[in-house]
Amino acid sequence: MTTHERTAIVERSACAKVILCGEHAVVYGRPAIALPLPKLRARARIEPSHRGFKIVAPDVGSTVWLWRHSRLTRNPLARAARATFDFLGKQPPRATLTVTSDIPVGANLGSGAAVSVAIARAIAVFFDRELSPAEASALAYEVERLHHGSPSGIDNTVVAYEQPVWFVRGEPPAPLDDVSIGDGLPMVIADTGIATPTRIPVGDVRAAWEKDRRRCEQLFDAIASLVQMARESLQQRDLERLGHVMNANHVLLQQLGVSCAELDALCDAARAAGALGAKMSGGGRGGNMIALAHDAAHADALAEALLLAGARRVVK
Ligand code: MEV
Repeated sequence: MTTHERTAIVERSACAKVILCGEHAVVYGRPAIALPLPKLRARARIEPSHRGFKIVAPDVGSTVWLWRHSRLTRNPLARAARATFDFLGKQPPRATLTVTSDIPVGANLGSGAAVSVAIARAIAVFFDRELSPAEASALAYEVERLHHGSPSGIDNTVVAYEQPVWFVRGEPPAPLDDVSIGDGLPMVIADTGIATPTRIPVGDVRAAWEKDRRRCEQLFDAIASLVQMARESLQQRDLERLGHVMNANHVLLQQLGVSCAELDALCDAARAAGALGAKMSGGGRGGNMIALAHDAAHADALAEALLLAGARRVVK
């Protein structure tokens, strides 16, 4: 059967992610820890059709056609599809690719990486091929580079591997055991509702680094030490220590200039409600923060407190 005759519908998905600690410094070669959020997902569905390759994203009202010879597209969905066709050595078939997602856009929850990984996986399966996590991650990285010039690769990695990871730029990720959110870690993620593209705070950190490399490198080193402590706290299941590490990481991110009043207010509200620790997570200047609870019941109480303090939505 040729791909043009294919009648089956294929569907694949990819999860959201959250950064536990080490964001921004990870762009400059320091380690970071990221966790998958399997309950929040992006989905890509491919259905054979009679003409051209059409990509539809009903949630954002976008439709784009990908032609055989169209190459340099800046549309991230088309870019993910094109990178996958090139990787597989295939041309776009006559089919419609529909992308849907539960992951809020611009909330630093890895929506872009999840959409790219879901698209790459669905196209590969359309051609009877399952991508390895490393392949899916590399294809999504191509698209991440559109979002901001020099991504560390942590988002596409944790999304494609769907495992908690210890990540150092340019190195294979090291999976971490027993630290999933939910049954593993009593964590609450709260969204400020402010959608800030990651490239803005990442660009500002780059400008600060150009201006005063010594100060920024010291901050990155201090963050790296905290990430190491976070790893030890996770291994020893010492939530109290992990909470302190998160609070200290938030202060360093404030000093880097990537927090904002809304993120600080949500962190304060979480601590006032008894959180063991709280910090902004991801790019910052909006997006989300994370708070560590004592246990699952306390996570429910923290979620309530964060909603009362102005969070637009919470994820546990
Ligand atoms: C974004 O999720 C994490 C940042 O460190 C950017 C990156 O690693 O590319 C802010």
